[in-house]
Amino acid sequence: MTLSMSFLMFFSILAFVPLCFSHNANGGYYLYPQFYEHSCPGAQEIVKSVVAKAVAKDARMAASLLRLHFHDCFVKGCDASVLLDSSGTIISEKRSNPNRDSLRGFEVIDEIKSAIEKECPHTVSCADIAAIAARDSTVLAGGPSWEVPLGRRDSRGASLSGSNNNIPAPNNTFQTILTKFKLQGLNIVDLVALSGSHTIGNARCTSFRQRLYNQSGNGQPDYSLDQSYATQLRTRCPRSGGDQNLFVLDFVTPTKFDNFYYKNILASKGLLSSDQVLLTKSEASMELVKKYAMNNELFLEQFAKSMVKMGNISPLTGSRGEIRNRCRTINKY
Ligand code: HEM
Repeated sequence: MTLSMSFLMFFSILAFVPLCFSHNANGGYYLYPQFYEHSCPGAQEIVKSVVAKAVAKDARMAASLLRLHFHDCFVKGCDASVLLDSSGTIISEKRSNPNRDSLRGFEVIDEIKSAIEKECPHTVSCADIAAIAARDSTVLAGGPSWEVPLGRRDSRGASLSGSNNNIPAPNNTFQTILTKFKLQGLNIVDLVALSGSHTIGNARCTSFRQRLYNQSGNGQPDYSLDQSYATQLRTRCPRSGGDQNLFVLDFVTPTKFDNFYYKNILASKGLLSSDQVLLTKSEASMELVKKYAMNNELFLEQFAKSMVKMGNISPLTGSRGEIRNRCRTINKY
């Protein structure tokens, strides 16, 4: 073999060393879809079947599981911190403003985890279960599919303040929302595409009441909301009371994962202020809203890419964190 041939061979072998063995910029390992291929080959099937059963019983559960992964990833990374109950020194993120009386799906994650523990004890993290469940939920609602990079481990703590501060609120300004995304390494394209999650699921009256009665403190409604739609919303979202009343986020196709979210925004019928500001407060995001409203395929494709990006936020890998026995509690030594 000539020297140049052996060089060629060496470099072509290097090219095939899987990314999974290399370190990422933060000194952790890269996530990769085949992480459980040998250690728990049935894991993905188990998640899929439990999620399918839960969504068949309650269509909204698809939306709730998708949101659960988002609220996990924005607080200390995608490490299942959101799943921990309060106990000992842990103050649960479930009590935070964005999560209280709102975040759902914990029982479904528990059911998946106990089925997986039976098949492959102490192997699959709760953070990975949440990421796969978010993908399966999207698919069940008619959205795109993607391969979920895996290998996350679970945190040994939670952050109530992280949950309150990092997750955007529906009345945040466009700039605040974009800044909160940028702090997680996500950009304006990710913001507009991931907000498209609001094509499914519900919001409570308390999350948008301000728009109906007193948007900026002068007793006037939000005029960027279609006024006949606003009148309709007021019937079940009064000035006071009815805080927990539920409204669909996409009134045209409330359980179908499609681009009606963006079409509604163009018609001034985005339910949350954080939805409507994507059109009204930034030229760049307005262009993206129009693009996704016009082209469903483009939206679905970008959504899948942005979900993978969100799922990569600061995972615990290697020997960091742990594989919890139960998603609600850290392991005891
Ligand atoms: C851009 C900033 C965002 C804001 C301000 C925001 C805010 C909200 C609010 C206020 C609700 C209703 C909660 C309630 O009233 O109980 C909601 C629901 C929801 N959000 Fe977001 N969200 C944002 C981005 C996202 C992202 C990035 C995702 C997913 C990747 C997502 C997925 C969902 C889903 C699926 C629901 C419906 C949940 C259900 O029906 O259980 N949201 N969001």
